[in-house]
Amino acid sequence: MKEVDIGQAFTFLESGPVILVTTFDGKKNNIMTISWHMIMDFSPHIAISTGPWNTSFEVMMKTKECVIAVPGVNLIEDAIGIGTVNGTIVDKFDKFSLTPLAAKTVKAPLIEECLKCIECRVIDYVDKYGLVILSGEKAWINETAIEQRTFHAVGNGTFLVDGETLEYKTMMGNRLPKWV
Ligand SMILES: Cc1cc2nc3c(=O)[nH]c(=O)nc-3n(C[C@H](O)[C@H](O)[C@H](O)COP(=O)(O)O)c2cc1C
Repeated sequence: MKEVDIGQAFTFLESGPVILVTTFDGKKNNIMTISWHMIMDFSPHIAISTGPWNTSFEVMMKTKECVIAVPGVNLIEDAIGIGTVNGTIVDKFDKFSLTPLAAKTVKAPLIEECLKCIECRVIDYVDKYGLVILSGEKAWINETAIEQRTFHAVGNGTFLVDGETLEYKTMMGNRLPKWV
């Protein structure tokens, strides 16, 4: 993976792909699937919606860190599998043949097979709505992945895959960050 400026990281999530979230509890890596998430600003702050029914949530609350990884559509069945088993029962990196890579600022791993990763710190938890608020610290992209399309959950067991890209940079004008 190639490190890029953290200011680009919000673009990894603004289109709303299904994401994988990795954690490390001090002994073992784990992964969960998340489709309820939101970019909150350019820095980026990111909200994910989850709670104590997931092992990953408990670990995130304890370690105050995680990695967001964006899978390509070639990993759709792995992402669904990861989101339907509990990490205390199976080693998900092993079961889904995914490769953990060392991150720079957190102990949770990047996922080599994913398209993009964001190292994150947990900076808040809004108990009433089950919102974990993350601060993105480092951003990584996988330029060599052949399949760059991401996928999006509808919520009824169907998924949408990225289609055509339309460019409106001129019309977006000063609403775009300066580096675009
Ligand atoms: C497509 C998909 C999307 C999911 N989105 C979320 C989500 O947004 N929030 C959440 O708490 N769980 C979500 N899940 C469920 C968790 O990924 C699931 O409970 C997982 O087994 C948790 O793993 P863990 O207990 O090892 O942490 C989703 C699952 C799938 C398959």
